Amino acid sequence: MSNQLCIVLDFGGQYNQLIARRVRECGVYCEIKRFDTPISEIKAMNPTAIIFTGGPNSVYDPSSPHISEEIFSIGVPILGICYGCQLMAYTLGGKVESCEKSEYGKIEISQNSGSLIFEGVPEKSVVWMSHTDFVSQLPDGFSVTAKSADCPCAAFEAPERKLYAVQFHPEVTHSEYGKQILHNFLYNVCGCTGDWVMDDFIENTVAKLREQIGDKKVILGLSGGVDSSVAAGLLSRAVGKQLTCVFVDQGLMRKDEGDFVEETFTKLFDMNFVRVNCKDQFLKALKGVSDPEQKRKIIGTEFYNVFWDKIRERGTDGFFAQGTIYPDRIESGRGNQAGHGSTAVIKTHHNMVKMPEDIKFAGTIEPLGDLFKDEVRQVGEKLGIPHDLVWRQPFPGPGLGVRIIGEITEEKIKILQEADAVFRDEIRKSGIESELKQFFAVLPDVRTVGVMGDHRTYDHLIAIRAVTTDDFMTADWARIPYDVLARVSNRLCNEVEHVNRVVYDITSKPPGTVEWE
Ligand code: XMP
Repeated sequence: MSNQLCIVLDFGGQYNQLIARRVRECGVYCEIKRFDTPISEIKAMNPTAIIFTGGPNSVYDPSSPHISEEIFSIGVPILGICYGCQLMAYTLGGKVESCEKSEYGKIEISQNSGSLIFEGVPEKSVVWMSHTDFVSQLPDGFSVTAKSADCPCAAFEAPERKLYAVQFHPEVTHSEYGKQILHNFLYNVCGCTGDWVMDDFIENTVAKLREQIGDKKVILGLSGGVDSSVAAGLLSRAVGKQLTCVFVDQGLMRKDEGDFVEETFTKLFDMNFVRVNCKDQFLKALKGVSDPEQKRKIIGTEFYNVFWDKIRERGTDGFFAQGTIYPDRIESGRGNQAGHGSTAVIKTHHNMVKMPEDIKFAGTIEPLGDLFKDEVRQVGEKLGIPHDLVWRQPFPGPGLGVRIIGEITEEKIKILQEADAVFRDEIRKSGIESELKQFFAVLPDVRTVGVMGDHRTYDHLIAIRAVTTDDFMTADWARIPYDVLARVSNRLCNEVEHVNRVVYDITSKPPGTVEWE
């Protein structure tokens, strides 16, 4: 079973993944490809639709990404967005110029052309613009379908050639009818049928996994995070007891989290579950170490030593599975990131594990390798993975290790676990949980003087952190209501032993990071 495919050709725009996600939300399978992917390769993929992304360049910049004119005659409908729109005009003989003043932000456009892509869109609507150049003269055979006060060609098209272009960004939510416009392009112009549905994905993937794995064994490293949990759920459905999940518990998870993960996977899923409890080993390795980078390094090294030893012990016949998701592949350069522009490598993702040379499996399986995070969550829910796991906040690989400032000790882990549990409980009860992207407690290496009853105390300070963000590249501190903060502070000082003071972190990112270490 193969799905209809939309190819997003990446010209370096910051919203390339967002475009792909929106297309998927429209029920159409979508992949991001570099702008310089050979046209023969694009044709061989047999796409139903092509979208050109935006990009930071001007088409006249000699180093800007270009594309052969041939792409416009392979018979696949194309939608150009922002830079992609200018590139379409420029390549086909139109003219692009610099605006007297850049258009940036929410801009009103008007259209009444009867264009297929504006079906159901009112004559006037707000879109998100972000450009300095604009198309000043259309190529032959094109006509304008929308304009704004400062942009005479906010949208244009040559419908008989199935070429469409919009200067604005339909993929961002600030464009009121953006999703409708993308939907119109995919369905009205390209004839997409919406065959990308998660129920089918599960069924097809389970069938593929069964065929690929046969009667061999599979080992998966389970972290308790969303991705590895959903990968485990899918593999369990496909091959049951042929799957072994190895869960390394370094003792740096949140309160009771290790037990919750174990209970979930042993009770709800058919598999072999191996939990390796190695808190003591980690504490020993971390003794006396307070430098943040060194702590991270030790926790990472120790983790993989334990993990690979366990793998060697179980044997490496069969397959190795991991919870890699689609953005991991793009970010780490294994996928199709653009060579030009701003979407450079951001981080090598922890999901993609480097295997020691002596460990050799028959192959590696990445059942979620084509999915975005929101799709992984949908699959997780359909597989019956508990809500708390499917909607788990991001949690750093080194766990509470980066939230205990200075040396990590057993006592400090306990204090932080308790404090974090109280904070989470209050946020949950307050009804504001869904507004926060991440919230947690931090244990700075600070003691302060306090008074409790008639006694002087000299005890720990707890910092609480809560952020709102779209992508974690930037973040703002959450404006938690004072009465919620008051309850949290009260409970932390009363219920958590060795805590006598609470502060709220009001630093955005930048200049701060989300985590303290
Ligand atoms: P920072 O602190 O860099 O965090 O602003 C951004 C997001 O990344 C998470 N984070 C990590 N995730 N391994 C991870 O998987 C790590 O080592 C790590 N460090 C930070 C952090 O929780 C936040 O969501």
